[in-house]
Amino acid sequence: MSHTHVAAVLFFFLLYLIKTILLLANKQEALVLFSRRTRVVEGTVGLLMVATGVYLYFQSAFIGELWLTVKLVGVFLFFFIGFRAFRSGSKLFAVLNLFVFFYLYVISNTKTLTGRSTWLEETVAAVRIEEAHITDPLKRGQVIYEQLCAPCHGVDGMARRSGAKPLVSTRLSFFEIPKIIKEGPKTMPAFEGHLSDDEIQAVSQYVLTLSRSQDNDKP
Ligand code: HEC
Repeated sequence: MSHTHVAAVLFFFLLYLIKTILLLANKQEALVLFSRRTRVVEGTVGLLMVATGVYLYFQSAFIGELWLTVKLVGVFLFFFIGFRAFRSGSKLFAVLNLFVFFYLYVISNTKTLTGRSTWLEETVAAVRIEEAHITDPLKRGQVIYEQLCAPCHGVDGMARRSGAKPLVSTRLSFFEIPKIIKEGPKTMPAFEGHLSDDEIQAVSQYVLTLSRSQDNDKP
């Protein structure tokens, strides 16, 4: 679903970019022709982009976070400015809208408002401060889990936000979990290089305390 969304967004943006270039180059006729020819495609892709976006929004782990709300408002702004810019032939607004798009792209990728560092980097930094004086590995695992994993998997391991699987029913063993955490399947971030081996071991151990499956070989 998120791949479809990104593909639709990039295609929509490509059409927008071509139209902006035609507008800037004063190619009025070409612009009218291009707009007319791509109208159906643009409408379809636009609809796909909005539909997948709405779906992803409502199952997102980040719902209620400021960056996601700003993104939502920003998307409407992008549509509004774009529509007005081409209707009135305003080069200034058409170009300004490129920056709106660029900003939305940056905050989508970093999941922060400033775009200077990523959500993962910021949260890992916060976790480090919190876990600094905890020696019990399981407690450390819990602190890491609640900050970095619970947004998607839920504090109790039952949630499936952003496409996550409920961890209460995982059948993975203590030896398989670290690999998953390092690599990050699908929309899960890859934690390799962000968390130390020690931290990954600690959080893996904590994940197993959430699991109710009898199949895991718990350490
Ligand atoms: C942005 C959301 C997100 C975050 C944050 C996240 N995960 Fe995941 N997790 C996922 C997704 C998506 C999957 C893959 C589901 C699938 O394979 O269909 C997954 C799968 C897993 C699995 C495999 C479950 C199974 O039974 O196959 C484990 C274990 C896991 N995550 C642990 C963690 C841990 C530990 C953390 C924190 C260090 C974490 N996850 C953070 C989204 C997330």
